[in-house]
Amino acid sequence: MARKIVVTSALPYANGPIHIGHLVEYIQTDIWVRFHKTCGNQCLYFCADDTHGTPVMITARAEGIEPEQLIERVHKEHIADFNGFLIEFDNYYSTHSPENKYLSELIFNRLSEAGSVVKRNVEQAYCEKCKMSLPDRYIRGRCPRCGADDQYGDSCDKCGGTHEPTELIDPRCATCSTPPVRRQSQHYFFKLADYQQQLKDLISGGYAQKSTVKKLDEWFKTGLKDWDISRDGPYFGFKIPGEENKFFYVWLDAPIGYMASAKNYCDNNGLDFDKLWNSGEYEVYHFIGKDIMYFHALFFPAMLIAAGLKPADKLFVHGFLTVNGEKMSKSRGTFVRAETYLKYLDPEYLRYYYAGKLSGGIEDIDLSVDDFVNKVNSDMVGKLANLASRSGPMLTKNLDAELGRLDDSGKELISRLTAAKQQIIDNYENLNFAAVVRTVAALADEANRYVEKHQPWVTVKTDLEETRSTLTAVINAVRILTIYLKPILPGYAEKVEKFLNVDRLHFADVEALLVNHRINRFEKLVDRIDRSKVNEMIEQNKEAAGPERSGPEEPIAPECTIDDFAKIDMRIAKITRAESVEGADKLLRLILDVGGLEREVLAAIAQAYKPDQLTGKMVVYFANLKPRKMRFGLSEGMILASGTGGKDVFMLTVDPGAQPGQRVS
Ligand code: MSP
Ligand code: ZN
Repeated sequence: MARKIVVTSALPYANGPIHIGHLVEYIQTDIWVRFHKTCGNQCLYFCADDTHGTPVMITARAEGIEPEQLIERVHKEHIADFNGFLIEFDNYYSTHSPENKYLSELIFNRLSEAGSVVKRNVEQAYCEKCKMSLPDRYIRGRCPRCGADDQYGDSCDKCGGTHEPTELIDPRCATCSTPPVRRQSQHYFFKLADYQQQLKDLISGGYAQKSTVKKLDEWFKTGLKDWDISRDGPYFGFKIPGEENKFFYVWLDAPIGYMASAKNYCDNNGLDFDKLWNSGEYEVYHFIGKDIMYFHALFFPAMLIAAGLKPADKLFVHGFLTVNGEKMSKSRGTFVRAETYLKYLDPEYLRYYYAGKLSGGIEDIDLSVDDFVNKVNSDMVGKLANLASRSGPMLTKNLDAELGRLDDSGKELISRLTAAKQQIIDNYENLNFAAVVRTVAALADEANRYVEKHQPWVTVKTDLEETRSTLTAVINAVRILTIYLKPILPGYAEKVEKFLNVDRLHFADVEALLVNHRINRFEKLVDRIDRSKVNEMIEQNKEAAGPERSGPEEPIAPECTIDDFAKIDMRIAKITRAESVEGADKLLRLILDVGGLEREVLAAIAQAYKPDQLTGKMVVYFANLKPRKMRFGLSEGMILASGTGGKDVFMLTVDPGAQPGQRVS
């Protein structure tokens, strides 16, 4: 009986483009979904943009648009990228949706009713320069677990652990590098530990892959901590019911976004969402990367259990993409956006290559550019497409495009190919696409050997019917191998279907021989990869990225308004006396005449100016700066100078005839 299956991929963040790293996941998931569809199962593939949180808010601000405008634009871009890679969602929705708001509130309310939400005062990181509480991802520092530097406030890329932002060592604001201060605020916490036993049962019941269980055990051993599910405004997200300036943390509503996408689909297609998600009638699977395991193996299922809803049947976790053995890098040109790739190369090359690398584990997978070019050219083009191009044209040209019957040798070849079916199905089911690709390549080798042995290009001159039998076998080999690869190469399969003049192929058609049948004119199925195209793509990426650091080393501080600037009162001042400061070789003490007021300023200009050079100079004075007590006395305001420091400092001077105390504009 046909299975009913719901599949999700992680929801990509709405503040950036899809890149070839993301595509590992969407291609992996899409292959699995298409496999089930090709088997005749009902399989629904849901995804959405993950739209909430501070990054989206800040990106929108930087572009001078509303977050809603940003997420709408990115939604279109993401959909175009996914279409380009033949990722076929049944619904691609958004977490900024009424369904998601409804479900998030529902689940939150149920958690509260279950007594699993507590309010507690927290000390949170606050950047005084940016005037906002700093979300986890906006604090950088050393991981408290493994010591890796430059990690986020919520999780570590190196060891995969999660932590509280306050646990980071040497924390700093990611925007302006200021060490944050601590501030009190009341937050909502989900008592994750209440569900420890249920989670353990879930996981031992097969919720997680074997290769992830060790990591999960570690987390259980460390102990499950309460999870902070609220954030203070300003924040782009859903308001917490009954609160004015508190919002759900993006990671609360993001996984609920899977359900919202499903619900939106159900409502539009006459299906019962509750049945689909909760009844057990459908199997539910989440595909995710190893970096977001904590959320999917612990937080999300615990929330669902607490809310009386059904967690998924299983998580499928994959590793990260490296390119030529290293992390994707903008400066090396290997941080390739989906959109850029599509300008240069066929999406099916990447689908084929990733499939050949994916075997269902959580190891990282490497895209080696040389290997990529070789595999595609030697296997996809040289072995597979070649079979069709050696048989199709001859059939149409010399044999009226009519297939005949199989002779004994043909039958033998075909039975070898059909015999692999169950193994291939099992490998797909277990996400071992690499084994599928290997098996198919080996079968294609056999079929090519068959062609060489029977030499149709020779027999076509002497025995047309023998040639027809040979080519009928080859065409059937093409058909079978195409079915085997259809989940990986849907575009290729469509071309073959057209060429063979058959309906959409399914796994059930493997044994259905195509004999005494007229085929269509052969058109080229795939081109060889042009290595220079790959190089061009990488070069263009390097240029687009510019030098490794785009922008100054020290990031530009958060913006201030012209009104902020107008608060600075600048006056002309006359230096009436300048003297060095005992014990401070960088400072000079300046006595200023500000239109009759006497002011004293300690200025760090001793390496650039001698005191006697300064007497009588007219300078610009920052008059309303709060006086600052220094070790060497009180400094009242500041005189304006520029330069990088040391000897390289130039005082701003004005016309000697100017009036001390006069305002500077
Ligand atoms: N928005 C969250 C997921 C929320 S799910 C409720 C997120 N978004 S993401 O855009 O950063 O990543 C989306 C998916 O792509 C994740 O599963 C992530 O692991 C995967 N990948 C992102 N970069 C990747 C690589 N370089 N390599 C492989 N997978 C990668 O996380
Ligand atoms: Zn800051």
